[in-house]
Amino acid sequence: MSELKKLAAFACGEAYIRNGQKIGVGSGSTVKYFVEFLKERYQSGKLKDIVCIPTSFMTRKWLLDANLPVSTLEQHYQLDIDVDGADEVDAKLNLIKGGGGCLTQEKIVQSCAKKFIVIADDKKKSKQLGENYKNIPIEVVPAAYVPVKKWIEELLGLFFAW
Ligand code: A5P
Repeated sequence: MSELKKLAAFACGEAYIRNGQKIGVGSGSTVKYFVEFLKERYQSGKLKDIVCIPTSFMTRKWLLDANLPVSTLEQHYQLDIDVDGADEVDAKLNLIKGGGGCLTQEKIVQSCAKKFIVIADDKKKSKQLGENYKNIPIEVVPAAYVPVKKWIEELLGLFFAW
């Protein structure tokens, strides 16, 4: 399985990553292979003048550990490309995302990119969303947790245990 994730990540890198790009780098175990691709190409000198904008704390750490140039949307808010994973992908390329807990930051980075590429192995494919991945991740910013909790209770009739 990891081999397929790596194949997807490296194929994406070969096809879409070029010198001088500002690159959004997503979250999850598949993206870790994409960081590996960037590291290999950057260290060998084949890939130059890139800037990486991570979508999570963990991804930022991977990029820093790989000695890749890391920045923020404060410094670079117009990105050439964003590469991220997914939790499930249907036949029309609709996605479930956010299972890794970085949904908001992923969406913000993605919204700044001209091109969005998803890398995934065949385990993520389904005819209809929800077939394999049973949850729809939501992320609530701390300031909104009370109203969001109320809406979920009132609109969906769900109750929280806390
Ligand atoms: C992170 O919040 C998600 O959107 C990830 O992209 C997703 O969970 C994919 O992770 P894996 O590559 O580990 O399956």
